[in-house]
Amino acid sequence: MKAHTHIRIFDTTLRDGEQSPGVSLTPEDKTEIARQLSQLGVDTIEAGFPSSSEGEKKVIKQIATEKLQPEICALSRANKPDIEAAIDCNVDAIHVFIPTSPVQMKHAIGMTPQQVLDAAVDSVAYVKKHGLTCEFSPMDATRSELPFLKQVCQAAEEAGMDRLNVPDTVGIMTPKTMTKLIQEIKTAVSVPISVHCHDDFGMAVANSLAAVEAGAQQIHCTINGLGERAGNASLEETVVALHLLYGYRTGVNTKLLYGTSKLVAKLTGIAVQANKAIVGENAFAHGSGIHTRGVTVKPLTFEPIKPGYVGRTRKLVAGKLAGTRGVKTELEEMNVYPNAEQLKEIVRRVKELGDKGKMVTDADLTALASAVMGGLVKEEQTVELRDLAVVTGIKVIPTASIRLALDGKEYTAAETGVGPVDAVIKAIQKITDSLANVKLNEYRLEAITGGSNAVAEVIIKVENDKGRIMSARAVGEDIVMASVEAMINGINKCLLREQKNRRNISSHLEPQRNGAATKRGLIKVTAVDAR
Ligand code: KIV
Ligand code: ZN
Repeated sequence: MKAHTHIRIFDTTLRDGEQSPGVSLTPEDKTEIARQLSQLGVDTIEAGFPSSSEGEKKVIKQIATEKLQPEICALSRANKPDIEAAIDCNVDAIHVFIPTSPVQMKHAIGMTPQQVLDAAVDSVAYVKKHGLTCEFSPMDATRSELPFLKQVCQAAEEAGMDRLNVPDTVGIMTPKTMTKLIQEIKTAVSVPISVHCHDDFGMAVANSLAAVEAGAQQIHCTINGLGERAGNASLEETVVALHLLYGYRTGVNTKLLYGTSKLVAKLTGIAVQANKAIVGENAFAHGSGIHTRGVTVKPLTFEPIKPGYVGRTRKLVAGKLAGTRGVKTELEEMNVYPNAEQLKEIVRRVKELGDKGKMVTDADLTALASAVMGGLVKEEQTVELRDLAVVTGIKVIPTASIRLALDGKEYTAAETGVGPVDAVIKAIQKITDSLANVKLNEYRLEAITGGSNAVAEVIIKVENDKGRIMSARAVGEDIVMASVEAMINGINKCLLREQKNRRNISSHLEPQRNGAATKRGLIKVTAVDAR
């Protein structure tokens, strides 16, 4: 029987996460993330480190005025000026830290153990004198001498600390050593215990979960596992494991995990690796024949987590390992219904492309189907290019203006960019973002031939607001035109996939019983190079 079934989630994306090399968030970015974290349902938002700069202090103050649901906390070293800067921000809680390991006491802050002990006690007492919640961290706890660590923790408790956080500052713990340490600390203090694990050995999540099993009631984590060096325990992995593997509860609405991850990746500029658990692009994608067949027949075969549980959708990917069932399902989702013979040939061509080392995009798949089905598959072009003008030069800011037709209605937009491709993609996005809710996720440019007239290949991935990702490619000598073509192909594929749910369009798309598309349901495919 667990002593505690509810685990507090202390989010430090805006503090330790912002310490990730290369990350610097604007005040607007930080406020937007704080609002999202509040919606997500974390218990505490560590909004920043007030004494680090005037700007940081101002944005923490701003976040505190937002009256968000979670407790708003600020980080402070164990000294009065830092604590006063935090109090000034009108936060609910202050997280006071001071190193307790021999190496950090001597070389990072140049203090003796007695000075550290006194500073810890004075600081906790000072925070409590001002009526705020105090979370105390003996920094580098996991490399501290146990008797001294316990002595500092006990003294901090006597001074009034509300929660004790145990930082594995350099990520050297294992689940076994973490379990033992938490058990030891529990004999010294009676306030709730929290853990703060870094991922230097890739064990931050496992160590945090071990701490919970040993009695910790709170975990520090960050969206996408951002943080110093290799980062902190990732919030999405920690929460989903707590819920589904360990049977604990948190206040987190798991359906918002993917959206939150995307927002943080966009604002920090740190992309999530494709194979990352829960929020990586491939986390719910299936490629091989056995897997795609399995999940389409019974999702439990290869899906331990329902995609919708974390705000995702399943993706079947065609390639050299593709199976008939997966390709059939993928095509049907685009309202393309080949008969058995045609399907066999499409699968053969998909594998042929895969064997050449080519990524088979969604647009490629329908282009192959079109070729095999002798034009039976025709395009329903929701978005069409009507006009395009691009200006660039040495003294000219690259500017693109574009005219697109969306469901037959025309829209124009102009944008500037770092180059002509950037400008034109932004102009397309300006129109499709609000009208079709489709955003560019990935852009890849490859030269196929050499020389100044090289043929370039553009591969893009776009994503709609339901998390559906579609890929498309275009090939040409003009990079701008190839980029526009790929982008429009991808957007059309994305919209097409959603068509089943769009009453006005789906009403005239009816598959025949024998599997071939009806005349009224013809879908025309754009001319993409599907070699
Ligand atoms: O990693 C760490 O020790 C920290 C402290 C400030 C708690 O981030
Ligand atoms: Zn840290």
